[in-house]
Amino acid sequence: MTGSSVRGTLARTPPMGWMSWNAFGRDLSEAAVLDQAEAIVSSGLRDAGYEYVCLDDHWQGGRGPDGRLFPNAERFPNGIQALAEHLHQLGLKLGIYTCAGPLTCGGEPGSEGFHEIDADTFAAWGVDYLKVDYCHAPPDRDAAIERYARMGAALDATGQPIVYAVCEWGGRRPWEWARGVGAQLWRTTGDVRDQWDGPGGIVTLADATEPLAEFAGPGGWNDPDMLVVGLRGSSRDIAAGTIGCTDAEYRTQMSLWAMMAAPLMVSCDLRTADEAPRGILGGAGIIAIDQDPLGQPGRRTSRIGPLDVWHRRLAGAATAVALLNRSEKRVSLELGWDAAHGAPPEVLNAWSGLPVERLPLKVELDPHGTALYRIGSEVTAEETSVKPIRAG
Ligand code: GLA
Repeated sequence: MTGSSVRGTLARTPPMGWMSWNAFGRDLSEAAVLDQAEAIVSSGLRDAGYEYVCLDDHWQGGRGPDGRLFPNAERFPNGIQALAEHLHQLGLKLGIYTCAGPLTCGGEPGSEGFHEIDADTFAAWGVDYLKVDYCHAPPDRDAAIERYARMGAALDATGQPIVYAVCEWGGRRPWEWARGVGAQLWRTTGDVRDQWDGPGGIVTLADATEPLAEFAGPGGWNDPDMLVVGLRGSSRDIAAGTIGCTDAEYRTQMSLWAMMAAPLMVSCDLRTADEAPRGILGGAGIIAIDQDPLGQPGRRTSRIGPLDVWHRRLAGAATAVALLNRSEKRVSLELGWDAAHGAPPEVLNAWSGLPVERLPLKVELDPHGTALYRIGSEVTAEETSVKPIRAG
């Protein structure tokens, strides 16, 4: 196969894995990454589908006289190739980070002018995934397309199946061109923050990404950034602040990311995470919706007061329905079925995996909580009904 045909088969479903940025920031090391890898395996998350273990910024040591990047020797004493081999032995894959500018966002050496040699280095190390940031690079769209195309061509030329993630934060509408430069995912927004709303908050990123559904599908995904599930205000990204989310909010992030067919990149420290986030990240019914082979992201189909209703078409003529409570109060509602459309379909609660005995179903949503159902037939927004139940 030529390089481009190898890469043409990548990411038929959204990539899943772990990324170092929020857990380690500048304190990234081989030891820390291997600890996370062991935790991914022992917690069952590898078997649930999380496979890419990604070094974000600050793995670099510098660029040698031969023009080749090398890792920080103190923190990566055995080099990146050995790390890749170790991860591969664990049944995992290695992701790495660079930037289209001369420096990365964290001030490390970037790939400007070195696209080909860097792609070649990453391929030689056995890297499986590359995130390319856009700090210190020209602001205009054409320049961005040109730089990302150069890296895409360089990755193709390696002949290795390296997933390519564009990270220019959405300002240059990458959903319109990133596939064309050989990328499998593109950030749609600025950086995620461990908070409900406001800049980078969970609902802010979901609201910005949901309208872009038509651009995503097998081999090319909208990326509203990492999962903050489990951070609990501990992000090492100073700008992220230390607000943190409730478990209901973390469940909402998983649910909405699944409805959007978004990449699922864990960013908490899995060694110290308690049971709740591991359970949320491992939700099999939610992951199955995210990874649905049809690869068609869902849309918000209605807004009823503080309630959002989303529908997503799934393979095998099935449908996912999400009910999101945007308010700070508990909300009760009734999920019903319009009898004019025949007998009610089979419905599963995607979080518990349990069948729903009958429709209409009374649903209680926590503040900022989301309920997610898998319906065993193709249903439209008109066929389902959602009625808030007024208290008192
Ligand atoms: C940018 C990216 C983040 C992270 C940092 C690293 O802000 O958007 O995801 O990679 O750079 O410096």
